[in-house]
Amino acid sequence: MMNEPKQMHLQEKIFLLLRQQILDGALSSGTRLLPSRVMAEELGVSRNTVLVAVERLVAEGYVVAKTGSGCYVNDNVALGTNATASLGAIAPTGFMPYRSDIVDFKSGLPDLSVFPVKRFGQLYRDVMDHITPAELGYGAPEGHIELRREIATYLQTYRGVRCDPASILITSGTTQAIGIAGSALFEGQSHPLAVIENPITVDIRRILQKLGAEIYPVPTDQWGLCTSALPSHKAPRCIYVTPSHQYPLGAILSAKRRVKLIEYAQKSNCYIVEDDYDSEYRFDGHPISAVQGLCPKRVIYIGTFSKTLSPALRIGYLVLPPSLIAGARQMKWLTDLHNSVFDQLVLARFIRGGHYYRHLMKMKKRYRSKRDFLLACLQQHMGERAKIIGENAGLHLCVQFPGVVFSKNLLDNLEQAGVRVYPVWEHAGTDTSFDDTIILGFGMLSPEKIDKGIGILKQILL
Ligand SMILES: Cc1ncc(COP(=O)(O)O)c(C=O)c1O
Repeated sequence: MMNEPKQMHLQEKIFLLLRQQILDGALSSGTRLLPSRVMAEELGVSRNTVLVAVERLVAEGYVVAKTGSGCYVNDNVALGTNATASLGAIAPTGFMPYRSDIVDFKSGLPDLSVFPVKRFGQLYRDVMDHITPAELGYGAPEGHIELRREIATYLQTYRGVRCDPASILITSGTTQAIGIAGSALFEGQSHPLAVIENPITVDIRRILQKLGAEIYPVPTDQWGLCTSALPSHKAPRCIYVTPSHQYPLGAILSAKRRVKLIEYAQKSNCYIVEDDYDSEYRFDGHPISAVQGLCPKRVIYIGTFSKTLSPALRIGYLVLPPSLIAGARQMKWLTDLHNSVFDQLVLARFIRGGHYYRHLMKMKKRYRSKRDFLLACLQQHMGERAKIIGENAGLHLCVQFPGVVFSKNLLDNLEQAGVRVYPVWEHAGTDTSFDDTIILGFGMLSPEKIDKGIGILKQILL
């Protein structure tokens, strides 16, 4: 017979509590558990509830029942406190939840208040109404063909990427795409060298490092990656670049350097990894076309829907040169088999129905006006004290305050005063030359919040 939910809840709680004490060693081997009647009285629950919890401890081997004398903690079932520390105590690196109670200038977040919730709801309903048994089973690791077709058309039309559905692999965002590309690239290589831009999103550096790569940071300036500083002592396995919108400083890789980069990659037989994370939002001039279109054999192109729709979708993609498709496909399969088929179908139909393009146009206007408002606030409150960097595209810009050092202490003070800003140094390894520069993401913020945030910044900094 099924237990009442409330009763089940209590039994579960008592079981978990006793198990934790046994694992931690607080109840050591040979200790006799309190008689069930006493425990029930102490806990204010029925004896039956305690008995069920203890029976489960016996069944799982934490406790041994001795007829007539009671229940005893078994031998060798303690793990020690480190192994059982609650996950909550270990903060995942880099993850800071967005704070809507203050002005949080977190970068890389689109305006989630206007995510097309209704349309997605309709499409989910529609997809579920027509889903076939075959689609409910395991899918292809490279992703659903419907979505890969839509992405291929989009990339050819808008990004100058040379691809077809067969060269596309759907991933859980850029983050997984880097892991998959890195694994495919580094397999069988001893001490592979990975060139990254300096600065670059700290997690990109971490992922490549975790995959066993030696990291070689190359500086960036107003024309993007300084190709003259590429390594000459050893050929890298890959060069990771954000050529359409350098993260976080915003430069576009110049045409001359694009050519130099490709020449270098060809000469040293390495791959360029092109992270095209938010190039849809270029406010001044034409969108920058992808490096991939210039040399598809040497470039692994990565795109994401995190900035144009929502990071919660967890959908991104790789466009791979033929030589890497099999390796990447296998790595995706071994990682998580494939992305959710439902999400892929919904997204494919969102794009095919023309909604994605309309959404992009709408959002571009919205971000342009937020960007303009932020620039006006900075000008009004900070004047010449603030040097703006990389304001022509994307969902963030950088501001340099010569003479200010954005120490941990200063950042904490700002947050206590009601504004959270993000230092560039976090993404620059040991390089201290960006200590005076912060990243201001504006995608999520209303004009009121932007104004308030810059006002607080002024009070504390100037
Ligand atoms: C440079 C860069 N690329 C890509 C991403 C997007 O990652 P994902 O697609 O995994 O959400 C980010 C996230 O902030 C980023 O900073």
